Amino acid sequence: MSAKKNVRRRSAEWFGKDGKDGFHHRSWMKNQGLPHHLFDGRPVIGICNTWSELTPCNAHFRVLAERVKRGVYEMGGFPLEFPVMSLGETLMRPSTMLFRNLVSMDVEESIRANPIDGVVLLVGCDKTTPALLMGAASCDLPTIAVSGGPMLNGRFRDQQIGSGTHVWKFEDMVRAGEMSMGEFMDAEACMSRSVGHCMTMGTASTMASMAESSGIALPTNAAIPAADSRRNVLAHLAGRRIVEMVEQDLRMSQILTREAFENAIRTNGAIGGSTNAVVHLLALAGRLGVDLDLADWDALGQEVPCIVNLMPSGKYLMEDFYYAGGLPVVLRELGEGGLLNRDALTVNGHTLWENVKDAKCWNRDVIFPLDKPFKDRGGIVVLNGNLAPDGAIIKPSAASPELMRHRGKAVVFEDIDDYKARIDDPNLDVDADSVLVLKGCGPKGYPGFPETGNMGLPARLLKQGVSDMVRISDARMSGTAFGTVVLHTAPESAAGGPLALVRNGDEIELDVPARRLVLHIDEEELARRRAAWTPPAAHSDRGYLKLYIDHVMQADTGADLDFLVGSSGAAVPRESH
Ligand code: FES
Repeated sequence: MSAKKNVRRRSAEWFGKDGKDGFHHRSWMKNQGLPHHLFDGRPVIGICNTWSELTPCNAHFRVLAERVKRGVYEMGGFPLEFPVMSLGETLMRPSTMLFRNLVSMDVEESIRANPIDGVVLLVGCDKTTPALLMGAASCDLPTIAVSGGPMLNGRFRDQQIGSGTHVWKFEDMVRAGEMSMGEFMDAEACMSRSVGHCMTMGTASTMASMAESSGIALPTNAAIPAADSRRNVLAHLAGRRIVEMVEQDLRMSQILTREAFENAIRTNGAIGGSTNAVVHLLALAGRLGVDLDLADWDALGQEVPCIVNLMPSGKYLMEDFYYAGGLPVVLRELGEGGLLNRDALTVNGHTLWENVKDAKCWNRDVIFPLDKPFKDRGGIVVLNGNLAPDGAIIKPSAASPELMRHRGKAVVFEDIDDYKARIDDPNLDVDADSVLVLKGCGPKGYPGFPETGNMGLPARLLKQGVSDMVRISDARMSGTAFGTVVLHTAPESAAGGPLALVRNGDEIELDVPARRLVLHIDEEELARRRAAWTPPAAHSDRGYLKLYIDHVMQADTGADLDFLVGSSGAAVPRESH
């Protein structure tokens, strides 16, 4: 994979032209003080930047982009940074997931429309990673993802606190009367005390790990803290390497093969990764034409134990993970256990196994050996049954073992507003054995498939010491969250899935070992309810929201827009003047 290939570069169709077209393309670029020799046919590297002050996790990306540029220049390339819409998890409403596919379109069209030969994707906050990978995949140029890195460990008084995970814990403590509002607010600055994204094994760190384990990012991408100077080195090295990849014409589709996805899915199990990776990887595979479905998550994850002791499943944080050896150690463990496609190619031109085979672990309380795992069961379990004909998922490593087999009466919330209005109502007919059911939060619901699946428990039960209950919804869950939470129920209630038909007092059975999610209602009653069901009113009749609602697919296929599945390649569009 090291040989240079003699291919005519896309950028030559802009910068290599004579006459007025070439003049147009070069002259205006020169207003940035770019010397003529940069247009001599060298690889043009796009740096796709999701920097935004509204995306705090990515707010340090201008520095990172400059480091990528250094590397590109060093190798004789020509770097050009460009912005795309950024998705800040903590501020955007109603849900960043509503916009993942929109950003992927922005990325795809920005790359294809411009004189770009290879791309470095600067990714960090949750949705920025899948959105940029999906968009770039539909062009299929040489591509490297560089994650922004996790924040330093949160620290509140004498306690390590984790992004998100401790927000849920502290909120429950406030509701249970164990923490004052003043203390709660003190903890804010203690949690987020450096640049970077969430430092639990939430969705951002999971997706950074997915990028590394699938080979589309350089080794160590997942865990170097954002504030560590080695993160800048990684960006610099990515800049160097992408130039070589263009010269070798090593494209994204040669890296992100079925084998690479299998590696990523097993890695997700081993790290106790976020359930959000399920929809993101399915959607990404769809762009690349890789044959991957929801059942693969269960099948591939079955034998994978969780070997990483990180919040929300465990007690450590990403900084500890990096010092313990990081993802290369996890991949080595998987490889030695026969759970890795060792020959999968990575962006540095080496196989995944070549990259990780000598990785050393420096802390066995953070990264456990495969044969003495942190938790026996790491992967995602896919549930089926009459309540989820197209599947639903649960993450056993974040759930309570005693609730893995449970039968209880449904307490139903028709939507998130109904939940908020009634969850703490003293008259709510609920006890610890109840099953909380939330509707209206799937891809079409809400709209935009929000992270409301780990709904908080009734304050009355929290005060009694209840810490977990079975919860079922068509929503997603934050990667930083935990609990016995069934998610992504498909079809969703807003699309007329059986979840829409559940009523208070119905008996629901969850049997994780048997992979069953059953609504114990006879067929005739179910048919009566189905006949009486009416779809919810449309959220909007215009703009992106209408496009999204009309075209979004269900969770079991990754919630991409139906017309975005697949690739249009990177053929150079027609000249415009
Ligand atoms: Fe950005 Fe968690 S809020 S990664």
